[in-house]
Amino acid sequence: MADARPFFWEYIPTPVAREVFQIEGGRPLAGSIRVSGAKNAALKLLAAAVLTGERCRLENVPEIEDVRVMAETLADLGVVVDHPAPGRYEVASGDVDWLFVPLEAAARMRASFILFGPLLSRFGRVIISNPGGDRIGRRPVNLHVDAMRALGAEIDYRNGYYFAKAPGRLRGGEVTFPFVTVMGTENAMLAATLAEGRTIIRPAAQEPEVDDLITFLVKMGAVVERTAPDTIVVEGRRRLRGADHRVIPDRIEAGTFALAAAMAGGRVTLEGAPCELLGALLEILGRVGVEVSCAGDTIVVEGTPPAAGAYRPCDIETAPYPGLATDLQPPTTVLLTRADGLSHVHESIFEDRLEWLAELRRMGARVEILDSRHATIAGPTPLSGAEVAIPDLRAGASLILAALAAEGSSLIHGAHHVHRGYENIDAKFQHLGARIQRLPETASTPHA
Ligand code: EPZ
Repeated sequence: MADARPFFWEYIPTPVAREVFQIEGGRPLAGSIRVSGAKNAALKLLAAAVLTGERCRLENVPEIEDVRVMAETLADLGVVVDHPAPGRYEVASGDVDWLFVPLEAAARMRASFILFGPLLSRFGRVIISNPGGDRIGRRPVNLHVDAMRALGAEIDYRNGYYFAKAPGRLRGGEVTFPFVTVMGTENAMLAATLAEGRTIIRPAAQEPEVDDLITFLVKMGAVVERTAPDTIVVEGRRRLRGADHRVIPDRIEAGTFALAAAMAGGRVTLEGAPCELLGALLEILGRVGVEVSCAGDTIVVEGTPPAAGAYRPCDIETAPYPGLATDLQPPTTVLLTRADGLSHVHESIFEDRLEWLAELRRMGARVEILDSRHATIAGPTPLSGAEVAIPDLRAGASLILAALAAEGSSLIHGAHHVHRGYENIDAKFQHLGARIQRLPETASTPHA
């Protein structure tokens, strides 16, 4: 039978089940939830497993769409991917025979580009689609490509694809970025583990998910060390071995639920929440006047319901870790609608991560988008339920938070975006007492 894989000039979009969230707002939250494994660690750990032909076992992997896309992308390469139980994945890359990451994968998930480094370093060649931009900015990958070239790769770019090869073997070298890039750091590090000689990466991203990846690589026999906060040094090895690993908790999910409790009011306990990884957000919650207690891996948030009063205004600015995570900027901005006064938001990482505020305005928020990186929020503004549409993952979760606190009911189109990165978000909110339903988008469902 002819190879069923589409040639790379055929792009067959995967139909995505369109869904809506229906939410009855105005009720405080109460109870406790367990934080899932980190999406932005799990995707890279799955990619790292192709550095060895031996079996790797991962647990605490979040059951989210992006992980399923990564697993399918790996399987299309000939990687054996087993999913023996919820949260557990086993990967064996002994028989990889197709070093091609298609537009289909890149279009569904930008993080598929993290396969560039490991595939090139293990097999000496790869054809991989340029993932392009998405709703929060152009999202170029030039720094990844520069890093691969710094390690000796020969790369051509044609028809939206990078054709890369490493004659003989990649060789270690200096990878110097003009500014911090998380996946750029990770791609360079993954490629360097099998390169000949030493690689020095700086400024290396300091996100905790990068350190989780380092921990896994060292278990695989790689020689990788963070020699300074912004420097990672890798001594290349000829081969790596299989390893087992438990994915760290998702600090962005934990922060999103902490902000939900602050926004809707009520007492919520987050179990398995990495307090030490949420310093910047916890400091902001303290500044605005939300009661938070943090002990080990448990966070308790005591929010006041909207009717009970306002919080204090606060200016926020995103930054690479340990600064405020850009992925927590949208839900934090929602909370600022409850502050008594004017708050300023500076999104320093992505140039288009404020566009979604137009949807928040439909719920009554008084937001002013000053430019692609700055906005102001005036409060306190009681929100009312509305029909809105989700543009991207983190804005989607933020619209859920707004709808939970709003008076009346909301219909949120584009729920599938949220399931890319939050495990069972509707079930978790239902467990906390929220009235949220996940429904198929039907022709009769009114649309924004
Ligand atoms: C990672 O994206 C995360 N994704 C993002 O989370 C997160 O927001 C981001 O890091 C910042 O923390 C994953 O880990 C899968 P960057 P990444 O390279 O690595 C520019 C989510 O919702 N840049 O650190 O792609 C880029 O445009 C997602 O979970 C270049 O110019 O982000 C941005 O302005 C959203 N050229 C800045 O660098 C490049 O080659 C930082 O981006 C690469 C990046």
